[in-house]
Amino acid sequence: MTENASSSLRTLPCFVRPGARAWRCAPVSAEVRGFHAALPGYSPTPLTELPQLAAELGVGRVFVKDESSRLGLPAFKALGASWAVHRILAERAASGKEPGPVTLVTATDGNHGRAVARMACLLGQRAHVFVPRGVHPQAVAAIAAEGATVTEVAGAYDEAVRLAAEAAAGPDAVLVQDTAWAGYERIPGWIVEGYSTLCAEIDEQLADGGYAQGPDLVAIPVGVGSLAQAVVTHYRSRPSGRAPALLSVEPEAAACVLESLNVGEPVSVSTGDTTMAGLNCGTPSSIAWPFLRGGLDAAVAVADLDSADAAGDLADLGVSSGPCGAAALAGLRAVLAGAGAEERRTALGLDASSVVVLLSTEGTAANPHATAGH
Ligand SMILES: Cc1ncc(COP(=O)(O)O)c(C=O)c1O
Repeated sequence: MTENASSSLRTLPCFVRPGARAWRCAPVSAEVRGFHAALPGYSPTPLTELPQLAAELGVGRVFVKDESSRLGLPAFKALGASWAVHRILAERAASGKEPGPVTLVTATDGNHGRAVARMACLLGQRAHVFVPRGVHPQAVAAIAAEGATVTEVAGAYDEAVRLAAEAAAGPDAVLVQDTAWAGYERIPGWIVEGYSTLCAEIDEQLADGGYAQGPDLVAIPVGVGSLAQAVVTHYRSRPSGRAPALLSVEPEAAACVLESLNVGEPVSVSTGDTTMAGLNCGTPSSIAWPFLRGGLDAAVAVADLDSADAAGDLADLGVSSGPCGAAALAGLRAVLAGAGAEERRTALGLDASSVVVLLSTEGTAANPHATAGH
């Protein structure tokens, strides 16, 4: 495994909160799991054990939740888009609205927009997707290939979200955004609910392997924090099983959750360029924030080079992981190495028998940057 000299010399941008494992919240409806299970083409994504990483990290077992093929797309995002679009259309039908096609509008760093476009196409609806600067042209082309109208925006992700919200104000259009703000929280809440299936699968897969207690640590790639909200909700509401440590991992160029945790309130950061396109977000989701503040044990920011190294190492071990997906490994490596590593290991409750799950949220096909350096 490559040791990146620049990262070991840097002061680690990291936040640790003792006591997060005792935080509790209400669970999501069990209906979501059944909905996904009934979708055509659904099957749980692999939970792959990588003993080489367990040896490197000094823990008992390391599993990678491999989202490189989820409902026919190369990232986990279809879980949220499918459930949210289902809820939107069911609500429209129940309210007696004209059954004609609706335009599903969203902004995206790539994966969510493609998932919304795919759902629109499958369900006979239209999609209009706003894409900020910095998204790989192949990712943009993949959204258009789903039949969506694509509008490329010169600004950053937050600007694309603003323009999408404006466009969705028209008739027969609905904003299907995977981040929330005051006054726009219900649909992002459904998207978060949709992500819960990923955690339910992990528990079932670990239980099948003899780990009924679940993981000791889950490492989560974080953009606006909606996926992390789902993971916190799942593991802080379980009636049984132990409470794992939950680690948020962001790019250094867009560490809005780390910054917010350090400041103690949600703040926006101005974002830079990063290969971790799906994590290039400057503002935490409003509905995610209470869950992130209460339920995350730690947050760390990683450099593009470290995520590229992790993606290369995962590829060598047979797992296709894009820059966002590989951020989970890069983040855990950062936390468990360098000055203060032993204190952080203790704070996270990790020892030589711990079971760690890394969420590899996209495959290399989701973001061609992944293969550029390898
Ligand atoms: C591959 C990938 N991983 C992780 C995330 C982070 O999810 P969230 O923005 O909910 O924090 C995204 C978001 O787009 C993503 O595309």
